[in-house]
Amino acid sequence: MPIDFGTDADLIGVGPGIEYDSFVAVGLAGLISTVDGETATVLSPVNVTLRAVTRRESRLLAVGDQGSILVSDDAGQSWSARVSGTSSSLIAIVHAQLAGVDFVVAVGVEAIVVSADAGETWTQVTAPAQGWGTLRGVFATNERVYAVGDAGVGWSSATPAGLWNIEALGTTANLLGGGAHYADTGSGPSESEALLIAAADNSVIVRDSSGWSTRALELEGDVIGFSGGYLLTSTGAVYDLDGTGIASRLPSDFTIEVEAIHADSGGVLAVGKAGKAERIYFQPCVGGRPLIDEGQACVASLVERADWIASVEGDESARVVADPAQAERWASAALDEHASVGSFALHSLELVSLGAPAELIAEVQAAMADEVRHAALGFGLAQRRGGGARGPGRLAISPRMLARCGDAQAIALALLEQGCVNETLAACQVRFAALTCEDPEAGRVLEILAVDEQRHAALAWKTLRWLIDHHPQLREPLRRRLLRIAATQPVGPDAEQTLQTLRELIIPLARQLLGPNEPEPTAKRAV
Ligand SMILES: [Fe+2]
Ligand SMILES: [Fe+2]
Repeated sequence: MPIDFGTDADLIGVGPGIEYDSFVAVGLAGLISTVDGETATVLSPVNVTLRAVTRRESRLLAVGDQGSILVSDDAGQSWSARVSGTSSSLIAIVHAQLAGVDFVVAVGVEAIVVSADAGETWTQVTAPAQGWGTLRGVFATNERVYAVGDAGVGWSSATPAGLWNIEALGTTANLLGGGAHYADTGSGPSESEALLIAAADNSVIVRDSSGWSTRALELEGDVIGFSGGYLLTSTGAVYDLDGTGIASRLPSDFTIEVEAIHADSGGVLAVGKAGKAERIYFQPCVGGRPLIDEGQACVASLVERADWIASVEGDESARVVADPAQAERWASAALDEHASVGSFALHSLELVSLGAPAELIAEVQAAMADEVRHAALGFGLAQRRGGGARGPGRLAISPRMLARCGDAQAIALALLEQGCVNETLAACQVRFAALTCEDPEAGRVLEILAVDEQRHAALAWKTLRWLIDHHPQLREPLRRRLLRIAATQPVGPDAEQTLQTLRELIIPLARQLLGPNEPEPTAKRAV
């Protein structure tokens, strides 16, 4: 799906914007373009090439040639320069929280510069005797920052303004960037997770418990970019890397001349030559209504406790059968159900803020109670499959999650994605799982979930209808969002089934609700 950054200049770097689903791209001649919804803002506050952009809370930071550092505190509407202390080219930038301390680190040609005050003031880190090398990528875990670059050079530090250690990566390839491969727990990547570094010779350097090792990849084209576990190649192909460095190709390629990608939970965005940009959306299916903060699904962590354990009442089949894989699967599913409790609680506030009728609020509250039961049934099954007595820890509720209250459009768009689309997909998947499950007790639980999730999906559609009836102006933004949904590429083991449900059920349902000028019911990318 094309995105218009409002420029014909070459775009070199891209990162997240401030609003949900907004982006910032940078490029030649100091170009900075921000896309927020349908509006593109194009500025050139400096006349040197800018190469990378990142965000730290409500501030955007861009870096580039001649040591340029620019910051914006108004979502990209205006930018001002900061003194980096170097005249070297800066190529990559990252925001890092190391042991609770906040840093921004930029790297480039023989330079590492660090800010401990959100990018206001910068210190150049003294280079070692052999120099830093040309650094092209920087990434962080919760404990360390890593800088990688040409000829296999790698550095890491727990105190980026101070001591950096050399990393023996065992490669001489040019390294482009990296990151941790982690299960999304909402807590950020940690050192115990696998680290991945993308190399320009089509290899990936993986660090697991036994250290760094190199894995050669068979790819179409040459690797030119890396973001969030996705590799971009020169031909526009995108590969999803797993924690062991195995690459699987996404079903369709970018059609533009690509330069860089940015990945988030919704998909990947590529930018390139002549101001072109393109987005591939994913449709992950989580088992119910997700709780989203800054585009990421939030779940609590798993803790030892026995007060979230339940079984289906009167179920003769409820007994202990050790099955560690199933225990983990059910514990993880139960955490998703628990997050849905929070999601429905927020949704009830959103509906109250719009003056929704009593019937809808009562049904949302009932759905919230269903999710409490789903979570407890899941934790119960996990325990009876040998997983121990565990339940949810604290769920991090951010004030940002309340931001939609009173905003009918934001509420409707989130409802379309998280309720109408995701819960309908979840209901179909759970129904299928219930029909094919061979564990009698799990089958009974899935049967309950299937009935409830179908009701939740229906409630989402009913709520959307109420919103449209009271705010007819929502049809247009909802139609536009539906176009994006129709262009998504389902990922994961159920991709085929997800695609079918999207095409045959969800898009036609939304078409009925939104009226004419709807998108074609196809999951092909609209180019
Ligand atoms: Fe649900
Ligand atoms: Fe549920």
